[in-house]
Amino acid sequence: MDTAVSTPWIRIADASAHVGAVVEIRGWVSHHRSSGKIQFLVVRDGSGLMQCVAGVRDVSPELWEALASVTQESAVIVRGSLRADPRAPGAVEMGIQDARVVSIAEAYPISPKEHGTDYLMDHRHLWLRVPRQQALLRIRAQIITAFREFMDGEGFTLVDAPIFTPSACEGTTTLFETQYFDDKAYLSQSGQLYMEAAAMALGRVYCFGPAFRAEKSKTRRHLIEFWMMEPEWAWATLEDVIALEERLLMATIGRVLDRCAEDLKIVERDTSKLERVTAPFPRMHYNDAVKILHDKGMTFEWGSDFGAPDETELSSRHDSPLFVTNYPAAVKAFYMEPDPNDTRLSLSCDCLAPEGYGEIIGGGQRMASLDLLARRIDEHGLPQSAFEWYKDLRRYGSVPHSGFGIGVERTLAWLAGLDHVRETIPFPRMLYRLSP
Ligand code: 4AD
Ligand code: MG
Repeated sequence: MDTAVSTPWIRIADASAHVGAVVEIRGWVSHHRSSGKIQFLVVRDGSGLMQCVAGVRDVSPELWEALASVTQESAVIVRGSLRADPRAPGAVEMGIQDARVVSIAEAYPISPKEHGTDYLMDHRHLWLRVPRQQALLRIRAQIITAFREFMDGEGFTLVDAPIFTPSACEGTTTLFETQYFDDKAYLSQSGQLYMEAAAMALGRVYCFGPAFRAEKSKTRRHLIEFWMMEPEWAWATLEDVIALEERLLMATIGRVLDRCAEDLKIVERDTSKLERVTAPFPRMHYNDAVKILHDKGMTFEWGSDFGAPDETELSSRHDSPLFVTNYPAAVKAFYMEPDPNDTRLSLSCDCLAPEGYGEIIGGGQRMASLDLLARRIDEHGLPQSAFEWYKDLRRYGSVPHSGFGIGVERTLAWLAGLDHVRETIPFPRMLYRLSP
């Protein structure tokens, strides 16, 4: 291929702006067929698909042969003129003038035929190339951008939390222990405690990063490694953060519906369900939620946490996400502020996504009292020494403050209508999967 002539290298997604021009695309061959006198190459570059056509009389015999040797997922650079064709994917087709086969692919392990989930997960590094997985990656990216743009717009500053931590944040049973020179460290379960410190410096902050939980549960909602955004807001009450969560979710749904229409089609999402989400979202006190479960004839003991079937029952009654508030302190982390109306309860709130998706946000008001905080740290079997810095936040200018954590993968599972979180993250870490 003559590389001396400079032909513009374009993204397939931008092709319609170049109809009539000679351009170059670089990508991978997703289909190849030949009718004897004409070869068709469908090329994918990550932004779209383009059908490229070569007639036996239009190209040199060498190029004709090179094109004929191309296999699924071979890497190619193709040059040619673009013409509008309503039947072609993207409505633009390329007449091949020249091409370079950069790399011939071996027999590709993923074909359009049905593969089992385990097989596909074993080939996750290749599975990412199929349209459905590309669509999910793009929707995920839009969700993350929506989160960050929304928080920035609300005056929150992005502050990064550490991954190596000296202590537990969300309970000692799901800690990942690791060697830290001569010491022990834990992979972060949550950046919250560090955000509380940062909120006392900057007022409104959020972190966005990976969280690690050694969850022994094999459910469709749990990952071992997941990504979470955690806003923390000085002077804010539980009510303030509930209102913030509602605005965040409306902004996120809006962006995804707006920017991901094609991708939502690819994953076959019924978007009317998302369009039906309206603020204000319904709210329910923990005690009322228990009553509803009892009225339904479900066995549930007051004081315990909701399981997946309970959450499904509560949340599938509404089109919009449901806020469940005032959980018993005993089922929540050590840092929750007690409910002044009933000190067995806490100023906490979980947001349950509709359609049975369950909890996507957990949050609440943070404990103000230094004495009670120290007692709770003991009750939870945590070492006081590891929390002295955290207790300092109550010693030096303590103010009411609240925050929450929203999981990217559960949000994506809901917005894309997936029945399992395994496809919501590029390389999932699950109870029985650490590879690829
Ligand atoms: O409810 P969680 O555990 O809350 C916290 O970590 C708080 N420190 C957050 C805060 O107030 N700053 O987790 C918050 C969210 C959940 O609602 C869920 O979306 C997600 O993080 N999450 C998980 N996602 C996938 N797999 C898991 N194992 C998850 N655990 C939590
Ligand atoms: Mg939770």
